Amino acid sequence: MDSLRISRRSALLGATMVAAWSTSPLRAAIAATASRATPAFVDALIGQMTLKEKAGQLNLMPSSWGPGPTINPIVDTGGVDKQIEDAVAGKITGVFNGNGAEFHHRLQDAVTRRSRLKIPLLFGADVIHGYRTVFPVPLAEAGSFEPSLAERTSRIAATEAAAAGIDWTFAPMVDVARDARWGRGVEGSGEDPWLGTLFAGARVRGFQGKDLTAADAVLSCIKHFAAYGAAEAGLDYSTVDISPQTLHDVLLPPYEAGFAAGAGSGMASFNEINGIPSTGNHWLLNKLLRDEWKFPGFIVSDYTGDQEMIVHGYAKDDRDAARLAILAGCDMGMASNLYYTYLPGLVRDGLVPEAVLDQSVRRVLSAKAALGLFDNPLRRIDTKREAASMRRPASLALAREAASKSVVLLKNEGGLLPLPRAGKRIALIGPHAGQNDLIGPWAPFGDDAKCVSFETGIRTAMGDPKALSVVRGCEIDKPIAGGIDAAVAAARAADVVLLAVGEGQFMSGESQSRSSVTLPQVQRDLAEAVAATGTPVVVLLRNGRALALHGAVRDARAIMVTWFLGSEAGNGLADVLFGKVSPSARLPVSFPYESGQEPYYYYHKNSGRAQPPGPRQDYKTQFREAPNAALYPFGHGLTYSTVEYAGLELPATMPWNGAIEIAARLTNTGAVAIDEVAQLYVHDQVASMTRPVRLLKGFAKVHLAPGESKRVTFRLAFTDLLFSNADGKLTVEPGAFTVWVAPSAQAGGVTGAFSLVTG
Ligand code: NOJ
Repeated sequence: MDSLRISRRSALLGATMVAAWSTSPLRAAIAATASRATPAFVDALIGQMTLKEKAGQLNLMPSSWGPGPTINPIVDTGGVDKQIEDAVAGKITGVFNGNGAEFHHRLQDAVTRRSRLKIPLLFGADVIHGYRTVFPVPLAEAGSFEPSLAERTSRIAATEAAAAGIDWTFAPMVDVARDARWGRGVEGSGEDPWLGTLFAGARVRGFQGKDLTAADAVLSCIKHFAAYGAAEAGLDYSTVDISPQTLHDVLLPPYEAGFAAGAGSGMASFNEINGIPSTGNHWLLNKLLRDEWKFPGFIVSDYTGDQEMIVHGYAKDDRDAARLAILAGCDMGMASNLYYTYLPGLVRDGLVPEAVLDQSVRRVLSAKAALGLFDNPLRRIDTKREAASMRRPASLALAREAASKSVVLLKNEGGLLPLPRAGKRIALIGPHAGQNDLIGPWAPFGDDAKCVSFETGIRTAMGDPKALSVVRGCEIDKPIAGGIDAAVAAARAADVVLLAVGEGQFMSGESQSRSSVTLPQVQRDLAEAVAATGTPVVVLLRNGRALALHGAVRDARAIMVTWFLGSEAGNGLADVLFGKVSPSARLPVSFPYESGQEPYYYYHKNSGRAQPPGPRQDYKTQFREAPNAALYPFGHGLTYSTVEYAGLELPATMPWNGAIEIAARLTNTGAVAIDEVAQLYVHDQVASMTRPVRLLKGFAKVHLAPGESKRVTFRLAFTDLLFSNADGKLTVEPGAFTVWVAPSAQAGGVTGAFSLVTG
């Protein structure tokens, strides 16, 4: 067996991302000499600081104004005036989730005029997929298979947030999420590590822009480092017990890609990994992240993550938690106040070297310097710019584009969709018809009331708006008196039903794990009653995770996954529904048949008794109640046309250390122009460690006019075949590999094989 040592960064992420780091804005900004905040300036400042002032620079608190105090477990900030005095006294490095330039101005102004050292505050926020303009939830946007779209939406999110005085976003969230029961998959890019790496890098570039000192740039924060999505049973915050191979090959690459793209900060995750909570994990934060990946920025704990090491059973008390966290490389504590309270004493007692404290302070001050705050603490705080920056027409147009590019068409029997704009009576039925649950669970600065609802979007697009009837039918999880009867009457009077059902936005997000990833019973009852009318049904699913679909919802003639589409939800949906835009999104997560299949992801391994295609057999790897497959797999999504995959071309061999070109011919065999997402999957047939049945290694979004045929090419490199061997070393082994160019992880497409040779 040949094995070789290649840096994980260059191997798994490719040369592009390495180049991204060498030109990263953070790196350049830290080294900038035009700014007075040079490394020497930072060191001189540290030289003047008391132990308490140093500890204060590592203490981040929720803002006492805006959503800050309420969207996490409540901590007492003492109110605005007290927080201003704390800031002036040097007790905090900044605040997060405050709202608006006015508040940020009050704080920054007080600190830069009245504090002893006049170190500017850092203002953070959870700006995940938009600020006032809300884009589709990140999971939805990943379904676009268009990382450059995420770069553009993150850029607008940064522009708006920065205009409100925000310097730093707690995004992107890049946790690979393979278990639909976990509620936070909605914040990330789904189950696939390759897709996840591309979206991680794109979002960092979007948030930070080309120049971190710019007034519209925000520092990004890679979270939740690490493996937060791998919680046992999908139970949020729970134990992560994972093999080193899966950790390195599946879960870590998106974090590494985000850091490699120049993200200036990271957030330690709440969970433990194999017995060690991330906040106190020296191997994770110092050895892997700093020594191996060469990350120069700072790490913040998650919200009271340092203190929670006591409940984990890893720290004996608050003081011990502070000690463990700082020694492990967690530079800043969030919301617990532990660092401010205990670090000075820990240093005085010799339990934490002052050099360790200084190093963390240096990282935090360097980030403030990189953001240009020492040169102009009010750089991002400008009430006039704030007023002019929100929800601009171009931003809303981008939100509409992103929404239409995020809608996944799962099923379209008999070409029911697209609908004609006129000549059909449409009944829009369901708890998601109206002005609710549009922004998703984690858009604290957005507002459902300002979004375009499905009703509004559809009515606006219709030739005869009066041909639309709207009935709610039931609430998300409870009946409405007479609701189902009214829905049935509306369905009977219509030519087609749009059934807007799904999860409420309160059902996904932080701490919203589900033991059953199904629709609430009341909505299933509604669907059955509506389907029984015989009127054709198009299901418009709203959801923050993969769902197991049943009964009338699963059997509807057409199904669209609409996730949480944000500000322009209704318009983006209508564009697809009426065929102005052909659907192009693909599932970034596999939809199982049943909840009990979770965690289900396409790149599982074969057992020795893998189920062959065909009916269920005993003594094979399968469930009694469900196939061992996805109802709708990762990568699946229809267009309004059909595409033929043919003419696979690839060489018989890949040379050692080389690369091959793989090509296929795609033909649009229908009458509508489309964007097809062709996907390249690879399987290593025999290796020293069993390998997944397929792994995504490339994709291409191809525009095809009706009847048009295009040759699509992919480059597959030797380094794309790397995996961690039994010793944890990155390895490539000669031998045979199967490839597919296919429209999903489960569908046919075209397939062939090549051999990796040593000669
Ligand atoms: C806890 C969440 O895990 C994290 O994602 C978020 O950034 C912080 N709270 C701050 O709101």
